[in-house]
Order: sequence, then structure tokens, then C-alpha cells
Amino acid sequence: MSRNLSGESRYGVHSIDHFALEVPALAKAEEFFTLFGLEVSPEAHRLALRTVGDALPWSYIYQGPAKRLAYLSFNCFPEEYEGLVAQIKGANGVTPAEGGLPYVSPEGFWFHDPDGNLMQLKMGPKRTPSGVPPQREVARRPGERGSVPRSQVRQVHPTRLSHVLLFTPDVERAIGFCREALGLRLSDRSGDLVAFNHARHGCDHHLVAYAKSSARGWHHSSWDVPSVNEVGLGAEQMRNGGYGEGWGTARHVLGSNYFHYVRDPWGSFAEFSADIDFVPAGTTWPAGNFPPEDSLHAWGPAVPDYFIHNSEA
Ligand SMILES: [Fe+2]
Repeated sequence: MSRNLSGESRYGVHSIDHFALEVPALAKAEEFFTLFGLEVSPEAHRLALRTVGDALPWSYIYQGPAKRLAYLSFNCFPEEYEGLVAQIKGANGVTPAEGGLPYVSPEGFWFHDPDGNLMQLKMGPKRTPSGVPPQREVARRPGERGSVPRSQVRQVHPTRLSHVLLFTPDVERAIGFCREALGLRLSDRSGDLVAFNHARHGCDHHLVAYAKSSARGWHHSSWDVPSVNEVGLGAEQMRNGGYGEGWGTARHVLGSNYFHYVRDPWGSFAEFSADIDFVPAGTTWPAGNFPPEDSLHAWGPAVPDYFIHNSEA
């Protein structure tokens, strides 16, 4: 199922199934993520976030004292599950999570990564893309209008979760954890400031990324939209709803995606992303190490100071 490169761990997760956050007020989260274009369903003690037309949640939001990652859940193929559990148990800095801890269910294998983040491994569907979708936005033809009147703009709805980014006190250790425990591959990095990792079974340029901070923390979730136009429209719908802070609209260098990050009510971000680089199964990405001034964005506004602030540190 997965082809190994020499020296890399044998098994690998293929997807993020979902992520779970704690936030101080569920009502605020419901307002924010609904405006972002997700389907938000209140359940007992939590919210479930889905993209339109997908029965499986991409996220659960729980009430807690402050914003933080509650846990991150990964999916693997059934034939790799037992091997992956052993691989994770044997990886540096990983500790199995005891039953009885909050969120730890009987399903799958629960553990803490070297930073203390709670994670779940389970067998589950491949939710990462297996190819690049055809451009859904019909190209403008000569003699036709390319835009619609402002009053006829419809709400942007992301189609899927693309990736998450966590703060870490040790980027090198986080790269090692991704490689040894999860079987992810390094896509690109910028020294010890930021690192992007992808799954080997067909995946966006990054599934899990880490950025340097003094402590662990939740930085952003990224959601795919079909085109750069919808990145801009998404930014506009958030601005119109009172969420005008963020970074973008711009284009990344590492990952190449067009993006707009919207600052959420807790100081972290939700990203509209389009056209991120794709790493097909069976291919090797030419991982690079880019100087910071060359790695962040190809064009767009300067990074606001609050973008790299870890509110959990
Ligand atoms: Fe991102």
C-alpha cells in the first residue's frame, strides 16, 4: 500500500480524520465557523464541524477554560494499524495515553506526542485527496463577464480540511516525531522555524506543519476552496461579518497555495486555501530548506505581528 524510501519508518498515517479544540464559549465558535462556511451542528457538550455534503465531521469543538488543541485524530489503512501502533510506541518522546483521561475513547490508540499533544490513531477512511481536482470555476470566455454583481455573491463553503499547523518549542523534534511515529515525510522547511510534512499515500504538500514558539499551541486549520477567487470572497464574507483581522490575500511559497488567514475569536486562525501543491502516492517530493525571507509568501501584504503570536505560550 505504501512504498518506503530507504531509512524511513515502515508505516504511515494517510489522513487527519478530525481535530478537536477547546474554546471558552461554544456560541462564539458556532458564529465564527458558520460564517466561515462550515456546517456547525450542536451536539451534547460540543459542536461538530462539517463541510457541505460530507457526513463525517472534520472537527469537534468543546468548552474549556481557554483555546487549545484537545486532540488530533489520524486515520490509517487497516493493514497498517498494528504496525503503526508499534511504530508510534517505539518512537522517541511518545507516551501512550491512559484510559480515563478526557477524550480518550476505546477506539484506536491514544498517545501524547513529544510536546504533550493528545493524539489518536485509528483505522479510517482516506480523507486526503488522491489527485488534483479539475478547476471547478469555469474560465471566463471572451465576450462574457467574469464577475457577478456584489449583491449576487454567494457564501463561500470550503470543501474539505487541508491541514493543521501547531506551535512547538522544538521543530527538529517535531519533524522526527512525524517521520518516526506517524510515517509522514518532510515536504519543506525553513531552518528550525517551520516545517511541513505530508502523508505518503497521496496528500497535499502539508498535512501537519509545525512552527517555532516557546511552547506548544494551536495555530491554524486550513480549508480548501476551489479557486483563488473564492479565497478572496471568503476573506470578504469574514470581513463583512466582523472578522477583518488576519493575513492575506496572498500566495505561499512553500505549498504554493493562495491563502487568506482569518483571525478567530481566540487569537488563532482559520485559513481559506486554494491550489496547494499535491504530492501523488509513489512519488518523492524534492524537500528543500528555504531561508525565512524566501519561504513565506511570493506576493501579498506583510505578515502582521499577531500572526506568529502563540496565545497559549
Ligand atoms: Fe496553512
